[in-house]
Amino acid sequence: MRTPWVVGVSGASGTGYARSVITGLLDAGEPIDLVVSRAARLTLLDETNLSLRDSHWEADVETWLGRGIGDMRYWTPGDLAAGPSSGSYPTQGMVVVPASTAAIAGIAIGLSKDLLQRAADVTLKERRPLVVVPRETPLTRSTLKHLLTLDEAGAVVLPASPGFYAGTRSVQQLVDFVAGKVLDSLEIKHDLITRWTGELGAGQ
Ligand SMILES: Cc1cc2nc3c(=O)[nH]c(=O)nc-3n(C[C@H](O)[C@H](O)[C@H](O)COP(=O)(O)O)c2cc1C
Repeated sequence: MRTPWVVGVSGASGTGYARSVITGLLDAGEPIDLVVSRAARLTLLDETNLSLRDSHWEADVETWLGRGIGDMRYWTPGDLAAGPSSGSYPTQGMVVVPASTAAIAGIAIGLSKDLLQRAADVTLKERRPLVVVPRETPLTRSTLKHLLTLDEAGAVVLPASPGFYAGTRSVQQLVDFVAGKVLDSLEIKHDLITRWTGELGAGQ
């Protein structure tokens, strides 16, 4: 039975993190169900110049990733009858990357205002892995409380905070660092990160 990871891309800055997570999952041969929120279309446009069209999603996602889409399904954000909106639809879990403060709030209170939030709520209620990657700074007390609620509900809160200790030479390495930590959380093998060896300066 096909059992995908749901990748939810919400409208926070940092679409490159989503791209790197998706690429890592595809490289590992994992199936993906992709949900891109309406607001994320604006961040995609702003950050990559890509206009994502639901009717041409395969070509557009291929352009965004710069590679084939592998075993990917695409659901529109308003489609509350989509597979991932039900707990009986098999998934391995979900990543919300990047996670807007609005999506964080919606998931924390079970708002389910769109498919991304509903799929995250389903992931929590089914006790499947949920990784949420906030990209906002500074954080309001309200967002901090919502993040604590998500942690208490069993989600992994994994801020988009790259480490600089691995001899970083490019922005892409910083992006991949965060994506690699997401894949570590999902127990997906990858080679996105130069891992700490216990030796200072080894990455230089
Ligand atoms: C270019 C752009 C960048 C944004 N960056 C962020 C961000 O980094 N973090 C955040 O929480 N919201 C950010 N926002 C605001 C969200 O898009 C907005 O709160 C939206 O309602 C989120 O909706 P969604 O959770 O359904 O995707 C940004 C909006 C735009 C247009």
